[in-house]
Amino acid sequence: MCRGNLIQVSVRSTVIPDAPAKTLAPLCVGDVLDVTIGQIAHGGHFIAHANGRTIFVRHAITGEFARIKITEVRSKIVRADAVEILEPSPDRVSPPCAFAGPQLCGGCDFQHISLGRQRALKQQVVADAFRRHARLVDVGIHVLPIAGDDDGLHWRTRVRWGVDRQGHAGFHVFRSSTVLPVDKCMIATAGQGVVPAATYRGAQEVRSAEGSDGEVVVTATGTASSGGSRVTQFVLGRSWQIGLASFWQGHRGAPDTLVRAVLAAGDPRIGEHWWDLYSGVGLFSAYLAAAVGPTGSLVAVEGDSRSVRDARRNLHQEANIKLVEGQVGDWLGSAPGPGRVDGIVLDPPRTGAGHAIVSQIAARKPRVVVYVACDPVALARDVEAFASNGYRFAGATGFDTFPMTHHVELVATLVPIDAADQIS
Ligand SMILES: C[S@@+](CC[C@H](N)C(=O)[O-])C[C@H]1O[C@@H](n2cnc3c(N)ncnc32)[C@H](O)[C@@H]1O
Repeated sequence: MCRGNLIQVSVRSTVIPDAPAKTLAPLCVGDVLDVTIGQIAHGGHFIAHANGRTIFVRHAITGEFARIKITEVRSKIVRADAVEILEPSPDRVSPPCAFAGPQLCGGCDFQHISLGRQRALKQQVVADAFRRHARLVDVGIHVLPIAGDDDGLHWRTRVRWGVDRQGHAGFHVFRSSTVLPVDKCMIATAGQGVVPAATYRGAQEVRSAEGSDGEVVVTATGTASSGGSRVTQFVLGRSWQIGLASFWQGHRGAPDTLVRAVLAAGDPRIGEHWWDLYSGVGLFSAYLAAAVGPTGSLVAVEGDSRSVRDARRNLHQEANIKLVEGQVGDWLGSAPGPGRVDGIVLDPPRTGAGHAIVSQIAARKPRVVVYVACDPVALARDVEAFASNGYRFAGATGFDTFPMTHHVELVATLVPIDAADQIS
């Protein structure tokens, strides 16, 4: 039972602990403790141990000695914020954003960490996910910066803002419904970085986006919108018209980088038949269809009608692309079946594709599957599912498409186990 708050000040341990210490008093919200910060966990938290509990700490870095304040205690998880750094890491930097820190904006978790260390930490999380969930050790996946992104700021081309009761746009405090009004977002592209002067009283949400041409569009749910509802994005010589409600890769350099990575991983050839599953507005479809040429084909499957509408708008001139609006699982199981396929791009939502979809894909025996993932654990689980369906992991590259946050994008290649040498 929690009665008053524990203030437990300790001396620094010389080793980073990897197991809970012996049981002491129960931890309570508001307790303040001094702890040595251990390894990073999936989700951007760092592990610490105290009073027999494992604690997930935000705003810290492995190796630091920090004063932490407990923010949440549940039967399975204890969370805390590092509120004072007693011995800082050499990789600690001053956060570029004034709204980053304990009980402030819940969006960026890595603003206090140098960019190089951010990537090293993401690499570690990916390696850990593959070891735990795919039973693969030393996968050697590197997390690369996006070309031209030198400071991790002003990269985000679309932003969803919360709205407080007074109508100010802002962001949610971590694990809270409270909206913190924010007048400038440092990771948003410059045009959206300053919140539009209008207030949004009564709106549930404000969405903004900046096109490659610098045009900024803002819409607010539940109130009159300002500006148009689509922006123009240029990707590898093509122009795209994208609605604010459709999925679009958030980092300004991500579409070019990911399209190139998908083409390099899959090596689509003239005359081949490809599927782009979870295709969004058809970003990968366009370049894959160009690569397989008029004798080849591309089927794009997407469940969100607004994204499919944008795909139609952008791809209607491509005769070798077929757009399917529907659930991937339904389409894969539909009669008479989708036909022959040589290569598949799979870019599911954060939860991953899952065992059933993986089995259905493997049953079609494509020569290669290119898996684009925004969650390393979901990817590793699906890699394990592919392994039990005759496909082996042939490599992956990580891309730092979400600097200042713990998120990472991965492009992985899977090939049939009995034909692994088809891919160089
Ligand atoms: C990570 S996005 C990828 C979009 C696209 N590949 C891109 O890079 O722009 C995942 C997409 O899957 C769609 N989606 C989610 N679940 C789906 C399902 N069960 N069937 C079809 N599409 C789905 C979402 O609407 C979203 O557009």
